[in-house]
Amino acid sequence: MRPAAPSDSAPIAQLVIEADMFPQEARGFIEEMMASYFATGQASGHACIVDERDGRVVGVAYYQPKTATDRVWDLTMIAVHPALQGQGRGATLLAQVEQDLRDQDQRLLLIETSASAQYDLTRRFYGKNGYDEEARIRDYWEDGDDLVLFRKALKTQ
Ligand SMILES: CC(C)(COP(=O)(O)OP(=O)(O)OC[C@H]1O[C@@H](n2cnc3c(N)ncnc32)[C@H](O)[C@@H]1OP(=O)(O)O)[C@@H](O)C(=O)NCCC(=O)NCCS
Repeated sequence: MRPAAPSDSAPIAQLVIEADMFPQEARGFIEEMMASYFATGQASGHACIVDERDGRVVGVAYYQPKTATDRVWDLTMIAVHPALQGQGRGATLLAQVEQDLRDQDQRLLLIETSASAQYDLTRRFYGKNGYDEEARIRDYWEDGDDLVLFRKALKTQ
């Protein structure tokens, strides 16, 4: 596990597409997001870590502070290569994010996901890692696809 470097941007985009977190058409958007992270995001507190195996990026987590809150964070992106899912890599990434935030005395970590069947395992993953389903917004992503908001208090751990 290490902080992401600029040369990871294309592999990260490839990984999140392969993990089905974003569609193929979103490649440009993800690469722009990473470029903006290296240009200004890091300076405003965003963080991105990667998990490597045999020199290849196989996992990523991106998190950022929520503006106008007292130490609340958003896990914007987490993905593990499909061939390596279900082996504990996602839990290790998430634990690393939480530890980093606890070390900085941060309070809450929020995660937005979908209520659709495609994300059944993802929601289960958050539940298994101690996140509570806190809210739903109906038809958020599109008609019939609700947003599910997960929450974890970092200070009680
Ligand atoms: C969600 C994700 C990051 C979890 O990482 P992971 O390394 O697969 O998860 P772990 O091995 O640490 O944890 C396994 C648990 O997570 C859940 N899980 C989620 N996705 C899974 C998958 N593809 N295969 C197996 N288990 C999965 C299961 O509940 C499993 O525990 P169980 O088998 O005892 O029920 C990863 O599966 C992934 O990249 N999914 C696709 C992208 C995505 O949904 N990202 C989040 C968007 S909000």
